[in-house]
Amino acid sequence: MKQKVADLDWNDLGFKYRDLPYRFEAKYKDGQWQEGKLTQESTVTLSEGAEVLHYGQEIFEGLKAYRRKDGKINLFRPDQNAHRFALSAERLAMPAYPEDKFVEAVKEVVKANEEFVPPYESGATLYIRPYMIGTSKVLGVEAASEYTMRMFATPVGAYIKGLNPAAYVVSEYDRAAYAGTGQAKTSGNYASSLLPTVEGHEAGFADCLYLDPREHKYVDEFGGANFFGITQDGQFVTPKSKSILVSITKRSLLEVAKRQGLNPVERQITLEEAFKMKEAGAMGTAAVISPVGSITYEGKKHVIHSETETGPITTKLYNELIGIQYGDKTGPEGWVQTVE
Ligand code: PLP
Ligand code: COI
Repeated sequence: MKQKVADLDWNDLGFKYRDLPYRFEAKYKDGQWQEGKLTQESTVTLSEGAEVLHYGQEIFEGLKAYRRKDGKINLFRPDQNAHRFALSAERLAMPAYPEDKFVEAVKEVVKANEEFVPPYESGATLYIRPYMIGTSKVLGVEAASEYTMRMFATPVGAYIKGLNPAAYVVSEYDRAAYAGTGQAKTSGNYASSLLPTVEGHEAGFADCLYLDPREHKYVDEFGGANFFGITQDGQFVTPKSKSILVSITKRSLLEVAKRQGLNPVERQITLEEAFKMKEAGAMGTAAVISPVGSITYEGKKHVIHSETETGPITTKLYNELIGIQYGDKTGPEGWVQTVE
């Protein structure tokens, strides 16, 4: 059943899939991408031999469209998603989707579903999920020769708890997520984070925090976002690691933090050091900036700043970031594109 705008409560969307009228689809066949187009078909039909079902040849992206105060619609750095999508494709032996066409397709999907872009100040956004799958039939371990790239959109509210501090737990499991690639987002790899996430949610935590898989000593990232901390002397620090996602939000916040005089740095951060941060947060497209209220490790809870109040530096970073995304503040050249 297609979603109707009238049935939505913009203030209570949650973070979930909804079947909107339009999505984009492009197919790769005979060594080239065919012209993509919008379609109303939300079901994907696959052969039982399709590559993606066996060896997980799948990549995805996530980005948002923001309703501005003047009613227009902004995209935040979609060229960066296009580029990472191409890098992820390369890593999984898939054909890259042309970056300029990726951005055009995002705009087409947003425009076609424009009525689903939530109002300014609702705190909600339209989330766009581009993905690509290997569709040709394989039996042995090999790359597919045919692919489908799709992008759907769905209106979303907060992924974690908005700007309210959340509780996190250090995962006992390693997540083999894009380890060593630092760039591919793949479904197969995210699946290894499902068990720790389920266990974490059941125990009342918002998400898991993963440590570096080699020494279990340094902070890597959360299940769905990167980590940042503010040291006692006011420096913005975020992990340098080859086994975390190259986050667009993180890269953006490194620049925002610089402008705010927080002397940002990417370096290894031990878990012990993370416990002593003045403030900490999760950052990502879905998470935006979500303050860390506590981190529980081996049954012991370490409160960071406060379990109920958001720290002043986190609040300032959040306001600057969303100010730029919604077009209320001017960010660096090229960060925002308008959907015309
Ligand atoms: N790390 C993980 C594991 C993620 O799933 C995400 C979300 O996309 C991020 C980090 C943040 O990346 P970005 O800021 O590009 O959305
Ligand atoms: C995103 O932030 O876009 C992600 O891919 C994270 C996912 C946990 C929803």
